[in-house]
Amino acid sequence: MRAISFFKNAVFYARSKNKVVYNNVVPLRINNGLSGKVILITGGTSGIGAFAVQSFSRYGGVKKVIFTGRKENNCTLPDAEFIRCDVRDSYCCDSVIKNIIERFGDIDILINNAGVYKDSNITSLSEEDYDSVLQTNYFGIKYMTKSFVKYADSAKKHKIINVLSIRSLTSGTDIYAMSKWAGYSYTLRTAKELLDRGFIVNGIAPGPTCSAINNVDLKGNVFNTAVRANYYLDPDQVVNLMWFLASDLSKGVNGQVISIDGGETLL
Ligand SMILES: NC(=O)c1ccc[n+]([C@@H]2O[C@H](COP(=O)([O-])OP(=O)(O)OC[C@H]3O[C@@H](n4cnc5c(N)ncnc54)[C@H](OP(=O)(O)O)[C@@H]3O)[C@@H](O)[C@H]2O)c1
Repeated sequence: MRAISFFKNAVFYARSKNKVVYNNVVPLRINNGLSGKVILITGGTSGIGAFAVQSFSRYGGVKKVIFTGRKENNCTLPDAEFIRCDVRDSYCCDSVIKNIIERFGDIDILINNAGVYKDSNITSLSEEDYDSVLQTNYFGIKYMTKSFVKYADSAKKHKIINVLSIRSLTSGTDIYAMSKWAGYSYTLRTAKELLDRGFIVNGIAPGPTCSAINNVDLKGNVFNTAVRANYYLDPDQVVNLMWFLASDLSKGVNGQVISIDGGETLL
């Protein structure tokens, strides 16, 4: 058997030797596939989302980066614009998507990043807070995605990147984990369903990252002692993975949730 296998491999190698096709090779350039793009990032006023807005608007050569949040934001970044929108409100999500597409012709990349974390003790968490986590972290993705599919130019290719969590991949039964599991499932389902309509859908599953969501600032000061990780990612590390998925460098990657956790899930 091993001799046959060796022979087959040798024949394959000999035949393919001079037939390597380089046409589709994507050279490594920082703004691959982002120049001239319109990007919508939900929850771009703080943490990971804010870093993404800065990174894409300063270095992406993009046409426009539009970002959302609940609180007002005075944006002074080049080629960036803030629109107030609570992602728990399906009408608001719909009108934001429609408005951007009417003004700029299309949205090329939707990054569903808005998210909240609430202490998950079921006996102390109010009904309102419990529902709000699910509404923001899961329904927010669903509302934005549905409207995006509804209004996007059907002749073009589009990308959706959902910011989930390692809690989407590991055990955990609190409402935050449940909302992220739902986001994980939704990412796979939409990738499959929208493949023939030109949408590429992937997810990012970060580990603990310096941001307001878990009370860690960029100097590494930890205000939340309940977080068990022994170090935190910088938001820009997560944004680098976002760049990869948003750009042509990730051609062929679809329906994947990629974790970036510094090894946290190995523990
Ligand atoms: N930091 C981590 O350790 C970590 C780990 C794994 C996953 N993540 C995920 O990464 C994403 C970004 O979180 P982050 O760490 O950057 O936290 P963050 O600094 O608290 O930022 C959260 C962003 O979401 C927005 N937001 C919250 N609720 C919203 C709503 N209902 N409608 C619209 N926008 C809303 C916030 O803006 P407003 O307050 O103005 O609404 C803010 O811009 C979240 O999905 C989070 O679950 C974070």
